[in-house]
Amino acid sequence: MNRLELFPVSTKIEKDSLTIAGHDISSLADVYGTPFYLYDRETMDGAAMGYKSVLASLYPAPASVTYAGKAFLCKAIAQWTQLHGLWVDCTGEGEIAIALAGDVPCEHILVHGVNKSAADLKSAIQHAGTIVVDNITELHRIASQFPIPNSQHSTPRVFPNLWFRLLPGVAVDTHHAHTQTGQHDSKFGMTRDEIMEAASFCKEYNLPLNGIHFHQGSNFRDANPLKAAIELGLDIAKEIGFENNWHFSPGGGWGVAYHEDELPQPDIDEYVRVIVENVLKGCKARGLPLPHLHLEPGRSLVARAGVAVYKVGAIKRRGEKVWILTDGGMTDNPRYAMYGARYSCLTVSGVSRERSEKVSIAGPYCESGDVLIEDLPMPKIKEGELIAIPASGAYHLSMSSNYNGSRKPAVLWLEDGKAKVIIQRETIDDLWKRDIGL
Ligand SMILES: Cc1ncc(COP(=O)(O)O)c(C=O)c1O
Repeated sequence: MNRLELFPVSTKIEKDSLTIAGHDISSLADVYGTPFYLYDRETMDGAAMGYKSVLASLYPAPASVTYAGKAFLCKAIAQWTQLHGLWVDCTGEGEIAIALAGDVPCEHILVHGVNKSAADLKSAIQHAGTIVVDNITELHRIASQFPIPNSQHSTPRVFPNLWFRLLPGVAVDTHHAHTQTGQHDSKFGMTRDEIMEAASFCKEYNLPLNGIHFHQGSNFRDANPLKAAIELGLDIAKEIGFENNWHFSPGGGWGVAYHEDELPQPDIDEYVRVIVENVLKGCKARGLPLPHLHLEPGRSLVARAGVAVYKVGAIKRRGEKVWILTDGGMTDNPRYAMYGARYSCLTVSGVSRERSEKVSIAGPYCESGDVLIEDLPMPKIKEGELIAIPASGAYHLSMSSNYNGSRKPAVLWLEDGKAKVIIQRETIDDLWKRDIGL
């Protein structure tokens, strides 16, 4: 049971206390207060370089990695993506605005969304390099803004490329139905027939269609179901008649370990290898030119880099049941409430103490579902202790709320010798900002 492997790669135990990127976590809590989140740059760099180097070594044509901003996007993370030349998947105008504020160039902005609003589309047409079209209604809306040759219509800068989102009808095992998106009855994407109809429309109106995308779900560790979806995607590409310079994106979704029961960490190389091998084989069999290949991970780039640090308040010991109550919970991490997600934990000090009792860790909010962890062996924790929950970098803060008037935690960026606040803790004043009363 090596819980340390769930933490960022720079994590060490020194004097029986947790350090990350050389920073003592208790000292960070003294300076910045709790709860707080930290992101370890070394872990994120390693994941990004891991994806890029396997792609470069296995795939003989152009390839790119797109960071799925929905996992967690802020200016600092957007800026970090450009250190690695990543594209950024933005859902709607809000994430586009954050990406632009983080200096992501237009050609690296790719826009997703299952029911994009007029404002989302306007922003995408103005700022994105690529729009992934989810449905035919959306395509018609985009077409109405496409510059007609020789017209007075004011044209945007270069019109974005259009890709179609395919509904492959093939499920991946994500451990929870709510994180599956590729199964046949999913709300996402277009069926093969719908795509062919949409492709004819693009041909008729000369729209810049040049890619196919699908995304089957989030947090899977068996890449085999990708094979059937890749086959279908390539069939469709062939039928549309893509020639050179076309793009193919089998989405993201590769998992990470959240609990010691799930170790080892899923192997990124293996995931990329399955995709590359099947794209190479499938293109050859169909006489298709190799596409520009895109991978679209979110979780596997940032989840392990993130750690949530909480302070223990009250403790309730009732026979077998031990409740450890902390100063954060479902408002910064709704994943237990949404998916029954399982997590692990270490105390920040006294790490080597014997794990002598099973505890449940819950937040201060008025919901019985405000739980972070259930029945985890831990040492006898004392009131006022700090605890650290690993694998907290994806889909926590991006899904956080102000329930019960809670304020979102501060977020720190850790590099060797440097700890920087990248998002300030919310204040009571922030809660009033939009609230104008009667
Ligand atoms: C279209 C799309 N691409 C990529 C992702 C990223 O998934 P993950 O963070 O699991 O890699 C998602 C997540 O839902 C998605 O919807």
